[in-house]
Amino acid sequence: GAPVEVDVSQVEPGQLIRVEWRGKPIWITHRTPQMLELLPENRPRLSDPDSTVVSQQPAYCQNETRSIKPEYSILIGICTHLGCSPSYRPELAPPDLGSEWRGGYFCVCHGSRFDLAGRVWRNVPAPINLAVPPHKYLSETLVLIG
Ligand code: FES
Repeated sequence: GAPVEVDVSQVEPGQLIRVEWRGKPIWITHRTPQMLELLPENRPRLSDPDSTVVSQQPAYCQNETRSIKPEYSILIGICTHLGCSPSYRPELAPPDLGSEWRGGYFCVCHGSRFDLAGRVWRNVPAPINLAVPPHKYLSETLVLIG
């Protein structure tokens, strides 16, 4: 499949947009400063907070935000359990997700949770973090996925 160009300046703070690359849903989420501040709080609740599974992100995204630019998260929107596409649940502690929730992605199929860096919570069916696709910035706001 051909690489896909996306102008990330169209994504409002707090918003997620979906594009398709190689038949897969790609999420581009514009994380606000508040969202980024909350990421470290998730660490004790995560299976792999340091993203050590090398298949799940390029080396340049094996960092605290799993991204090149902290404000833009780019993920393959496919649950690492059985392949459903999780929902974007950016709000803090919705009642059905519990008081520890700091916002992220929730897979309704079997209840897996991921934070806003796509890192999987402990004790859910999904075994590993969501994947980050290969990508690079062609300019300040133009990203090439693939
Ligand atoms: Fe997502 Fe099973 S496919 S939890």
